[in-house]
Amino acid sequence: MNRLPTQLPAAAPSWTVHADVIVVGSGIAGLSTALQLARHSQLRVLLVTKGGIDAGSTSWAQGGIAAALAAGDSPDEHLADTLTAGAGLCDADAVRLLVREGPAAVRDLLALGARFDRTGDGGLSLTREGGHRRDRIAHAGGDATGAEIERALVTRVLDASAVEVVENAFVLDVLRDRSGAAAGVTLRVQGRDGVGAARARAVVLATGGIGQVYSVTTNPPVATGDGVAAALRAGAVVRDLEFIQFHPTVAFLGAGVSGQQPLVSEAVRGEGAFLVDDDGTRFMVGVHELADLAPRDIVAKAIFGRMRARGVDHVWLDARAFGASKWRTRFPTIYATLTALGIDPARELIPVAPASHYASGGIRVDLDGRSSVPGLYTCGEASCTGVHGANRLASNSLLDGLVFGRRIAATLLAELGGPEAAPKPEPARRSSPPPVPSSRANAATAESIRDQIERVMARHAGVVRDHDGLAAGAAALRELASALPASPDLAGWEAANLLTIATALVSAASARTETRGAHWRDDFPDRREQWLGHLDTVLGPDGTLTTEFIK
Ligand code: SIN
Repeated sequence: MNRLPTQLPAAAPSWTVHADVIVVGSGIAGLSTALQLARHSQLRVLLVTKGGIDAGSTSWAQGGIAAALAAGDSPDEHLADTLTAGAGLCDADAVRLLVREGPAAVRDLLALGARFDRTGDGGLSLTREGGHRRDRIAHAGGDATGAEIERALVTRVLDASAVEVVENAFVLDVLRDRSGAAAGVTLRVQGRDGVGAARARAVVLATGGIGQVYSVTTNPPVATGDGVAAALRAGAVVRDLEFIQFHPTVAFLGAGVSGQQPLVSEAVRGEGAFLVDDDGTRFMVGVHELADLAPRDIVAKAIFGRMRARGVDHVWLDARAFGASKWRTRFPTIYATLTALGIDPARELIPVAPASHYASGGIRVDLDGRSSVPGLYTCGEASCTGVHGANRLASNSLLDGLVFGRRIAATLLAELGGPEAAPKPEPARRSSPPPVPSSRANAATAESIRDQIERVMARHAGVVRDHDGLAAGAAALRELASALPASPDLAGWEAANLLTIATALVSAASARTETRGAHWRDDFPDRREQWLGHLDTVLGPDGTLTTEFIK
């Protein structure tokens, strides 16, 4: 049996930096954590991020951020919709925090400078997405919500003198002290020789999603699950990785086209668009009382079922009724993307198919973002707070990153007290150093391994799964483990992380012999009472994964 790496192969650190808190990742979760710490303390925060500061998934978020902001709405109604979408596996206490703290957190985002779309009378313009029974999705720039939130938070973080930002910094592993507590990270920073050690009293992993584990995804190239893989290697428990949400309406660019694909926001259906098959039939009618606005897992399954039944590789989204003017004003980003692809959505149907979009599971944390490793905190898509259960409700992801990033900051403020004496960080800056040199042979191997992982996962652990496919997928991943380069460059480390994530995901998907939320087993098509619980996965010191069912 080939074992997974328990530490990424790297030279011993040749340089060290110190901070009170290290935040890894610069989406809404990481930025919110860092900013809250900077607003309320003198703690020195080192925020490191793998690519450019805005390269992560937050900038790509279209639909918006969900919160009970409308006059007739209430956190309890938001709670009910979230629990329904989560298919029995949400942690109700975590969801309660999310929906109660959400409205104030969104208002604070506005106060920080995020410019959300307004109605004629100056109120927030709210729309609807799948699974919501009310209009409660706040949006910005029409369909550029994530980009606007990212812009506002980045501006504030770069202004905060207590936060040092280092871009192009690849975190390899979590450092632990003798007691096993997180004490920093090892990292490679472009433009700096050797491996570094960033030491701190607390580490916050806000590294985002794992979508690149599949060949077709809405996630940007940086979403390779580095934080989740590093947490596994540090001994943390990872929960419910089998629940990968496939977004129903991703523009279909042709068979065999891989990598990040253009999302067509659920808000497009929220504003009245509907799905049809190649025969023109509105197949969501009768599937669910909310029809095209059913929760995401139900729509994705219906699309996949229809594609399978009719032997086609996509269905169609009809939003012609919007006309060019509404397309241009309400969905300018999607409109520009589609027209650049030669599709005029005001006159033509849009070809769409499901693609991997969001990990509802992740590093298991408590209500304050604490993982099972002392000193290691996690928020955003890398975490599993329990708010998403088996299937995340639309537009709850930005809210999750925002609310739980703030909660981690509040916890650290209480736990760490003031700053400790250590070298003063340099002021916040954006760096664009040259890339780390890589060996061509290594890069070719890493690229090929990554490509094979994505294809194995798409084929055997995609929207529909069964025992034989998952067993074949697990065997193929084991083979790939033996091909990992011995002295990898950054591409090799990403491939190792993807392999770790893929193996853990397949292990959980194999164990869960039922269909629930985003996990669809063809050989176990029903929800089963005995599976009303979670699958926790750990990586042992010998490189083997163990997956355990927790009631
Ligand atoms: C979308 O705009 O459809 C995506 C929103 C989300 O993932 O919650």
